[in-house]
Amino acid sequence: MGLSYPYQIGTTEEYHAAWKKSVDDPEGFWAKVASSFLWRKRWDSVLEWNFKDPDIKWFKGAKLNITENCLDRHLGTLGNRPAIIWEPNDPEEHHRIITYRDLHHKVVQFANVLKNNGVKKGDCVCIYMGMVPELAVAVLACARLGAIHSVVFGGFSAQSIADRLQDAMANYIITCDGAFRGNKVIPLKSVIDDALVQCRFVKKVIVLTRTHTPISMIKGRDVWWDDEINKVETMGNPDFPAVEMDAEDPLFILYTSGSTGKPKGVVHTCGGYMVYTTYSFVNVFQYKPGDIHFCTADIGWITGHSYILYGPLGAGATSLMFEGVPTWPNASRFWDIVDKFRVNILYTAPTAIRSLMGYGLGPLQNHDLSSLKVLGSVGEPINEEAWHWFSENIGKGKCPVVDTWWQTETGGILISNMAGVTPSKPSYATLPLPGVQPMLVDESGNEIPGNDVSGNLCIKFPWPSIIRTTYGDHERCRNTYFATYPELYFTGDGCYRDEQGNYRITGRVDDVLNVSGHRIGTAEVENAINMHAGVVESAVVGYPHDIKGQGIYAYVVYSNTHGDEELSRQDIMQTVTRIIGPIARPDKIQFVTGLPKTRSGKIMRRILRKIAELDLDNLGDTSTLLDPAVVDEIKNGRI
Ligand code: WTA
Repeated sequence: MGLSYPYQIGTTEEYHAAWKKSVDDPEGFWAKVASSFLWRKRWDSVLEWNFKDPDIKWFKGAKLNITENCLDRHLGTLGNRPAIIWEPNDPEEHHRIITYRDLHHKVVQFANVLKNNGVKKGDCVCIYMGMVPELAVAVLACARLGAIHSVVFGGFSAQSIADRLQDAMANYIITCDGAFRGNKVIPLKSVIDDALVQCRFVKKVIVLTRTHTPISMIKGRDVWWDDEINKVETMGNPDFPAVEMDAEDPLFILYTSGSTGKPKGVVHTCGGYMVYTTYSFVNVFQYKPGDIHFCTADIGWITGHSYILYGPLGAGATSLMFEGVPTWPNASRFWDIVDKFRVNILYTAPTAIRSLMGYGLGPLQNHDLSSLKVLGSVGEPINEEAWHWFSENIGKGKCPVVDTWWQTETGGILISNMAGVTPSKPSYATLPLPGVQPMLVDESGNEIPGNDVSGNLCIKFPWPSIIRTTYGDHERCRNTYFATYPELYFTGDGCYRDEQGNYRITGRVDDVLNVSGHRIGTAEVENAINMHAGVVESAVVGYPHDIKGQGIYAYVVYSNTHGDEELSRQDIMQTVTRIIGPIARPDKIQFVTGLPKTRSGKIMRRILRKIAELDLDNLGDTSTLLDPAVVDEIKNGRI
């Protein structure tokens, strides 16, 4: 039987040939891949680009709707196949299986709900929900209607939501009364209410009932999901033909942290994103029809967008969506789910692996796990110990592990081995996917050629799902990604290339932390800390953390040092939780009387980083500091 995906790569030789072809003739290469998708009108040109502005257009002139690719085109052959298997937070609650036909029906229904509530093509809709199937429905219904979705992770605070609503001028919100997460209930609607005090421009809030948490509904603004669906049913469930989109029309905005205080709205467009997410999904995970793919990310992050929803659905795959957390009600939860549904592909994060490692092998007892064929890792460098634990205890030594490097801005996986097709190497993302041309550069932007070298990771040629702009501020996009090194996309990551040309990502080289696989800007955390009335000044750095990868270490100059230090610490942590959300809460706060600064007033973060890392003998030259004595004080006060 032949392969179901004409572009699926099956051997190492085919990989090398595909990569070469993609470099020699990128347009021919991607035109061929794209022709396996459903277009209302074909493109006039495959690629027009420059990195200077940047101005990047893939499949210019083509017309499509991504939901026709993810839903309609599968109905004839795969209508009864599960599109989404949903496992609830509480193992006692029944799971749900949503076939392609069901999902299509629900998306059409909800697109009608959006229309009835005034949403039009080009409007921005903010989605703030837990991991329920209706989240997938909401996202796809926006795409069907041509509205731009902006999913905000359910852990963000009211202030963070308000910032995002204002930045995108989102007039519509879809949320839940609350979300279940382990033994907690997160009161989503009440967080939205707090956010909306500052956002009077929001016209409608559609609320799904999930937790039965008491909430207040504002007349004229807030409507219930179920009531709105009932109205559509009373109208006889009209169809909702997918709205025709230009390949370069925006599909969604996803906010992500950078080295400045304000998160930026990364914009992805319809055509290129569709082609690349499905192409990379099928190849990296070596998806075979009928396989069950379990990506443990939240749809609030890019991994959920690309590898729970669009990539798998574009391939007609079965995607497992899990509402809960890996350690509740106990640390067997992932393994229970793998056995319950006979999962074939498990795609998770190093932080989850390390946390589960901490429970030993007990939680694995009485688990078969024999259905697993492929394991995947994403979000941060995976240390060798975690890699081996994952490979040996979960994969039983027979499942290839794919270490997938990519970013919110790249839309899809750029550097990774392909499961069972190209070799893996622990802690290495290994080789670029076809279409991806990595380059290492030194500080001045000179290419570092050859092997066994380290440098800053750049990409020198566009791939179809590259970031197009940062919403409302194109200059910021240019500045952040395309101006550091002329004519190159700069990733912000450091990287080593070994003797064989394998890439190993070593971590961020900018002021971005990676805490449990989540990106957090140090400036963002500092801004939040500085909101606290007693804080004069602060500096935030990362330090190695056994489970989270990086922990957040804050040095704080505090005006009221006579009170209870521990209380002040808790108070500052609370402030950060309130301003950003629990993911940005510092792990450690050290009160200091001053920060090490240069004579021109610049904070010497390098020194603070070394102290937080307990690398006290390598602080380097401190003689140029304004007040060298402050360093000793900080060293002695290290917690
Ligand atoms: C890091 C997540 C090492 C990297 C998809 C990148 C990784 C940032 C890996 C993007 C990996 C992601 N190995 N580091 N396999 N995957 N990273 O935008 O620093 O949330 O720049 O996208 O995570 O994080 P983001």
